[in-house]
Amino acid sequence: MSTPGQVLDVRFDTVRKETIEQLRTLNRVIFPLNYSDRVYADILACGPVSQLAFDRDGELVGAIACRLENTPEGPVLYILTLGVLAPYRRLGVGARLLGNVLGIVTRDLPEVVAAVLHVQVGNGAALDLYRRAGFSVGPVVPGYYPRLNPPDAVLLRKQLRD
Ligand code: ACO
Repeated sequence: MSTPGQVLDVRFDTVRKETIEQLRTLNRVIFPLNYSDRVYADILACGPVSQLAFDRDGELVGAIACRLENTPEGPVLYILTLGVLAPYRRLGVGARLLGNVLGIVTRDLPEVVAAVLHVQVGNGAALDLYRRAGFSVGPVVPGYYPRLNPPDAVLLRKQLRD
């Protein structure tokens, strides 16, 4: 059980060909959806915008997986998954994974206009984390997750460039 303000010492590393299976295994444990090979190929192709978090013993404890999508307003960072294994939650890992990727994007990919993602309605932990990171809560997208209950999602967005 974590105490308020406690932080886990973690090391971040970009998702690569050698570690993509670790990401897939972690996501299978954390998320009720299975993402396709195509999605994992997109993640690999987008390089450092997807990051793994390892604890001091080298155990994978969390990850953020994103891809870059072309939209009429310009390239957008789409956050597919942000997950931390249950025993390691509330130790600042999720917020730092997100902050790390947003930092990489604003520093190295200045053409990216915004970061966006969907969160299942009722996922208070994720909504809180993203709001605290400066994301705005947008409209509800009914039926976004047809296989989940509830199936609705909210769209979150953070503008990165005017
Ligand atoms: N209840 C309320 N607020 C929370 C909770 C919670 N259970 N968890 C995190 N937060 C908020 C708090 O404001 C917290 O700050 P605080 O601890 O100082 O109060 C802030 O988020 C940062 O918390 P972290 O410790 O950095 O978050 P953590 O490492 O626990 O990861 C995450 C949060 C990723 C949502 C984790 O709970 C998780 O893996 N959940 C299951 C998967 C999931 O739902 N992922 C998000 C789906 S959306 C998407 O992936 C695009």
